[in-house]
Parts: sequence; structure tokens; C-alpha cells
Amino acid sequence: MDIRVSNTDVQQFDGDAVAIGVFSREDHLEGPAARLDAAMDGALSRLYATGEVSGSAGESLVLHTLGKIKPERIAVIGLGQRESLSTDRIRRSAALACRVLSKARSKRVGLALGWTESGLSLAESTRAATEGAILGLYSFTRYKAGAPNDGQENNETRTQPQSISILARGRESALNAAMRRGQILAESTNFARDLGNEPPNVLSPSEFAERAKLMASEVGLVCEVYGPDWMREEQMGALLGVASGSAEEPRFIVLKYRGGSKDAPGPAFIGKGITFDSGGISIKPAEGMQAMKMDMCGAAAVIGAMRAIALLRPAINVTGIVPTTENMPSGSSYRPGDILRASNGKTIEIVNTDAEGRLILADALSYAVRHDYSPLVDAATLTGAIVVSLGHVRAGLFSNDQGLQQSIMSASEIAGERYWPMPMDPEYDELIKSDVADVRQTGTRWGGAIAAAKVLSRFVDERPWAHLDIAGVNELDHKGPESDSGATGFGVRTFTELATLLGEQASSRSKEAARAK
Ligand code: BES
Ligand code: ZN
Ligand code: ZN
Repeated sequence: MDIRVSNTDVQQFDGDAVAIGVFSREDHLEGPAARLDAAMDGALSRLYATGEVSGSAGESLVLHTLGKIKPERIAVIGLGQRESLSTDRIRRSAALACRVLSKARSKRVGLALGWTESGLSLAESTRAATEGAILGLYSFTRYKAGAPNDGQENNETRTQPQSISILARGRESALNAAMRRGQILAESTNFARDLGNEPPNVLSPSEFAERAKLMASEVGLVCEVYGPDWMREEQMGALLGVASGSAEEPRFIVLKYRGGSKDAPGPAFIGKGITFDSGGISIKPAEGMQAMKMDMCGAAAVIGAMRAIALLRPAINVTGIVPTTENMPSGSSYRPGDILRASNGKTIEIVNTDAEGRLILADALSYAVRHDYSPLVDAATLTGAIVVSLGHVRAGLFSNDQGLQQSIMSASEIAGERYWPMPMDPEYDELIKSDVADVRQTGTRWGGAIAAAKVLSRFVDERPWAHLDIAGVNELDHKGPESDSGATGFGVRTFTELATLLGEQASSRSKEAARAK
């Protein structure tokens, strides 16, 4: 699909369909909506006056133009109240517009979704609309009859628009840059969604590593992949313990981007890469187990973000680290009661083999500490407890560092992904005291997401660290009006914006240091 910015007026747009934004609770149409209305002999204002179109957020209606203007269809998209228009709303509206017009088989689509009539920055709006269009049109059809890789098309792909024009008049270079950023972020998110949606018989740990390598070679990243022999040398007893029940070999993937100064290792982004979580010996109930093919979405977020970072080139060194394995039951599995030793020397008393994510992350965090990366940020579909706490809207954010936590909240706001800060009071350490090892793998029923974060905190050696528990937000289990069901790619945009922000912070620090000399 081709996406571009065009300074064409909406009533002159020379495509198949145009999407127009309408605000709620106003007494008349304005801007592009008013101009289109005039060209349509008042058809839009009549719909508005009768209340058939109210302009409330999430509303959509497709109208035939019957030769009055060049485009055959107009999609009228509700934007909500003008004062509360946000980039998030623009992103969602663009997704909705593209989805309804895709269903109507429009090939060349123009978008005019309220940015000229609100106080929002035109560049921010352009970026959000680009993201919305690309994210909204995503679907995972690779395994359906007649999928594109069969050299044919199927229902989902046949109707997709060929070009999207964002109708905005402004400084061309700024708008094009904003569009490019949105495109890279959204395509990298879709890349992560593809990984999440792949079935676990295809996406084994070794295949996961192959996909990371291929991506790395396409965008110019260094990619190192290690297997079980290396893990034994590194004494990664926790990762090897989880992998021991599976017929598939585990992998340890390291992706390196260099954009900063030679002597600063920079941050490490670490993702949980369980390609299938059966629970192991503490096996999960059958119902819903198929969703555990997505237990590698933290890893997918890291790999997707590394792709975006390689293309956007922030001024900082960033390393992506992914421990990946299956969690399976067998005669060689690890068991409840086992004591595993992670590569930093600490022992962990195993209570439940289904709490495997924290174990593979223990070895990945220890590796990051040994290589002196800082800060450390991990993303993981770690606990059911975070879903109980926050549902499917916000991810949990745990941190031992106020400044880093603040940077992540700022980055997430730009990214359009939502988090909620979770507590880390010292009293919670009681949950993971063990009589027989340095740390107990799990707590009791209560505060399960916090107990898991506390386990991770034992492997970061007091460095600035944050943990994103994305178990409630990594998957959408129903088709929404603005998005397809399946993996969401959550985290890609937060990690990428965080890298950008940390790069800016590092350059302003080094400038200040130079001035002080
Ligand atoms: N992968 C799961 C967590 C999960 C649950 C992800 C629901 C997505 C949706 C994790 O490995 C797990 O099973 N955690 C257990 C931990 C418990 C045994 C302490 C859980 O949350 O139930
Ligand atoms: Zn588990
Ligand atoms: Zn898991």
C-alpha cells in the first residue's frame, strides 16, 4: 500500500473515496466537512441536522456521492467533541475510516479527519493518521486459502486500498517526516503482530531467531543467536531449566543498534519469548491454552522496536535481548521443588512450572547486567494477575527508578500505548522469601504481578530497571471496529519512543558536560 501526504482540497480529491471527520455537539459543519457538504448539495448537513450522524467518537457512515464529486463514496467518521480531539482519536478514526472503506472496496482513499479544524499539530496528526491507516488495515491471512503467498488474493486482502492520501496542507518536509515516522512505527508494530499470530508449530524458538536475523539483515542491525551449549557455558540454569521439557532447542537472541557514543553501552530492551506456554508439569487447563502461542509478545515487541529503531536512527546505542524457549511437560521437564541457579549465581526455588517467564528473564537480565547495559527495560506477558488488576486497557509498569518510570510514561504518551504504575514497596519482598533458596519463584494468590516483578528485581543488580507486564494488552480477542483480532504489537511504539527520548537526554547531557569544561 502506498501512503502519502497531499495538499489537495477535500472537494477536489481525485480518488475513489474520501473520509471526513465530524465533531459532536455543534450546530453546523465546518472546514472540509462544510466544503464537501456544499459540493454534495447539503446531504451531509441534513444527516447532521436529523441526528443520523451525531459526530460521536467511533461512529461511521458510508454515503454514495452519485456523481456530485469525483470520489464515489464519503465515509463520515465521528470524532467526538472538538476540544477533546487527540492524536489517539485521530489514529483510531483513520483506522476506522480505512476499514469501512476497505469493506466498500475503495482503492484510492483520501483522509481529512479534523486536523485542520482543531488545535492539534498538523505533523502529529499526520503521523497518527498514518499509524491508524496501517494498523487498521492489518489482518493475518497467511494460512487462509488463496492468501497472498499463494500468489492469489483472498477476501481480506482483495479489498484493501492501494493508496491512502492524508489531506493536509503544511510544510511539506515536516509532514513527510511525520508520515515516515508513523509508517515505520506502524509497520514495525505489524511485524510484531505477525510474530505473535504465527502458530507455535511454525514459530519455534529457532524459527523465531531466524526471523530476527532476517529482519536484522534487512535493516542493518547486528544479530547474534546462541544455543544451549552457549547457555551452559554462561551457566543460565534458569533458562535451561524451563527449556528442559521441550523437544525444541532454546535460543538467546541479541540485536545491536549503534547510534550513540562508543563508550556508552546504552539501554537494553529485554523480551519474554515463550513460543508456547503449556504450563509444563504444572500444566494449564485445556480451555484457552491456544492463546499461549502469544506468550512471546514481549519478545516480539522488542524485535519490532529494534526494527523501528534501526530505521529511525535515534542518537543512542540500543541492545535488544530475547531469551526464547517453549514451556512443555515431559520426562525431562523441570519440576516444582527443583532449585535452579541463574547465571548471576542466585538460586530460585521452583514452586510452579507455569511461572516460567520470570526464570528466562532472570538469565536475560543477568546477562544485560554483565554487559553493563543501562537502563534495563523488559516486556513480558508475565502474569494473569496483571489482567485481573488492569484488564485489557493498560499494561502494568513496575520500576525501581523514578526518572526511568517518568521517561516511560512520557514515551508511552507519544506512542499512544497506555500503562499504569504499580507498587514495589519493600513489604512485598516477603512474598518471595524462600527457606531453601535465595529467592522463591512465586508468592501466594495475592499480588501475583507484584511478586513476579519482585523476582525480576533480584536480577538487575540495583540498576535502573523497569518491567512492563503486557499480559492483558498483547492480544485482542475479538475484531474491533478499529482493529483486527489477534496480536496487538503492544510495546513496539513505547520502546521506540523511549529510545528516542533516552537519546535526546544523553545528547543534552553530553552538551552540558562540554559546556561545563
Ligand atoms: N504466560 C502466563 C501469563 C499469562 C496469563 C499471559 C494470561 C497472558 C494471559 C505465565 O507464564 C503464567 O502462566 N503465569 C502464572 C503464574 C502463577 C503460576 C504464579 C499465572 O499468572 O497464573
Ligand atoms: Zn506460564
Ligand atoms: Zn508464560
